[in-house]
Amino acid sequence: MRITETSDMWWKNAVVYCLDVETFLDSDGDGVGDLAGLAQRIDYLAQLGVTCLWLMPFYPSPQRDDGYDVTDMYGVDRRYGDPGHLVEVIRTAHDRGMRVIADLLVNHTSDKHPWFVSARRSTTSRYRDYYVWRDTEPPDTSDQVVFPDKEDSIWELDERTGEWYLHHFYRHQPDLNVANPAVVEEIIRVIEYWLEVGMDGFRVDAVPFFVSDVETGAGQHATDPHRLLEQVRAFLVRRRGDAVLLGEVNLPYADQVRFFGDGEGNQLHMMFDFAAMQATYLSFARGDARPLRDTLARRPEILPTCQWATFLRNHDELTLDQLSEDERQEVFDSFGADPELQLYGRGLRRRLPPMLDGDPRRIRMAYSLLFSLPGSPTLFYGEEIGMGENLDIPGRMSVRSPMQWSSGRNGGFSSAAPSRLPRPVTGDGYAPEHVNVADQTRDPGSLWSCIRSLIWLRRTCPEIGWGRYEAIDVGAHQVFAHRCDLEQAATIALHNLGPDPVVVTLPPTGDDEEVELVDAFDHAHLAAATEPVDITLDGYGYRWLRLRRAGEAIIP
Ligand code: GLC
Repeated sequence: MRITETSDMWWKNAVVYCLDVETFLDSDGDGVGDLAGLAQRIDYLAQLGVTCLWLMPFYPSPQRDDGYDVTDMYGVDRRYGDPGHLVEVIRTAHDRGMRVIADLLVNHTSDKHPWFVSARRSTTSRYRDYYVWRDTEPPDTSDQVVFPDKEDSIWELDERTGEWYLHHFYRHQPDLNVANPAVVEEIIRVIEYWLEVGMDGFRVDAVPFFVSDVETGAGQHATDPHRLLEQVRAFLVRRRGDAVLLGEVNLPYADQVRFFGDGEGNQLHMMFDFAAMQATYLSFARGDARPLRDTLARRPEILPTCQWATFLRNHDELTLDQLSEDERQEVFDSFGADPELQLYGRGLRRRLPPMLDGDPRRIRMAYSLLFSLPGSPTLFYGEEIGMGENLDIPGRMSVRSPMQWSSGRNGGFSSAAPSRLPRPVTGDGYAPEHVNVADQTRDPGSLWSCIRSLIWLRRTCPEIGWGRYEAIDVGAHQVFAHRCDLEQAATIALHNLGPDPVVVTLPPTGDDEEVELVDAFDHAHLAAATEPVDITLDGYGYRWLRLRRAGEAIIP
């Protein structure tokens, strides 16, 4: 594949970086991160090698779910700046070759959104049907709530009209009625607006919850979320051919794959691979590559225009809901046995490094694996320096502490008094004096430097994003070995998930004698591809190999 082709369908080869403006950098000393602060750090992100920024919600919001509760889908929360500051961020990112996508929240609004304020006033409000109501007592739906620590039903009685409204998330987040064509029109208008502002696409929140099939008492209320996504996609593509929809769809593969658009590729362009992420943790816990290998073997085939977004952590709890109860318990036992570290009976409220006991070899192996897996890798801010969680912050928010730029006051995030920050900076072993950008960017041996080289290596291997994936059996269950191929290019990666060194034999690759195996980092010649080759891996060691045809130029 020619490198020039990687700029077409850019999402096939993207390195996505998710951040929350609120906790990234405070430029005016009021304690809250802002868009002007983010603008100052665009070059930092470009230097790291990120190609796409995903901005968590920056819209006006009462902040009862960290901005995932929106009161104005067209606005910028004043605490972060004004729309002009957002345009400056987008323009600067574009200038540095980065795309910008934003969270698109169409499953629900805040209960303070003017639509809902009007809708709940009377059954005849013109916005009444923007939401989903029932006039009879709902049955027990406690098994359908997303946040079982706070909610026990997906229906909430609204005293004024004596009817119940639907909310899969918190009761202050009423679900929009996407079966209503007027709501679909609103959604399309919102998308159009942000595309005109300069956004390059959206991370689509909570897709499986788009009202699909609920019993309202008055009968079954059914919408087909797939038809909605088709409409949205068709519109998006008409307006901006290269804009992307990256969906949050945490479902088993068989159900999930339908959101790419049943063989048509006409719904979401990308989806996070929750199944592979969860299997990766089981593999880490066991020091055994098989759970991940078996999961990737089940991964459905997708059209070349679609892509998986791979990730190790995100802004929510590390959900393990697709594992069996026993498997989940194994991961809990290894990475968060204390109930204080667990959430909702399904997840862990931790970042990766503390889960891996801060072992630098294991952490680097984990990220090398991430960047080598077929798909487009996604990072959550602070992962590149190995930030830890702050368990003093309640619930899921423990991983959303301020970004650690330096060892100075508030980790260089803000000059304000610590009491004014949205959340406290992480302390103890992961405090800014030990974990910060300033130290790590100057240290060629740091995690930051390691991740930076992995990103740049990944960017020179489009076959990982585009190519055919194949697991390789090297006869050691602790080693995850795989190959990605596209036309003449191929990369092989080996990751030792176990603590002990191991020597494995890589079988002949099946290529002709013109092809040799070369180490992707130092270009050392290993062997001709026709010979079996012994590879030594340290405990938690990894190797990336390229298959190079005689006479082919080396990527520097
Ligand atoms: C998604 C987000 C989560 C949010 C929820 C409700 O799951 O990732 O952070 O709370 O949607 O919008």
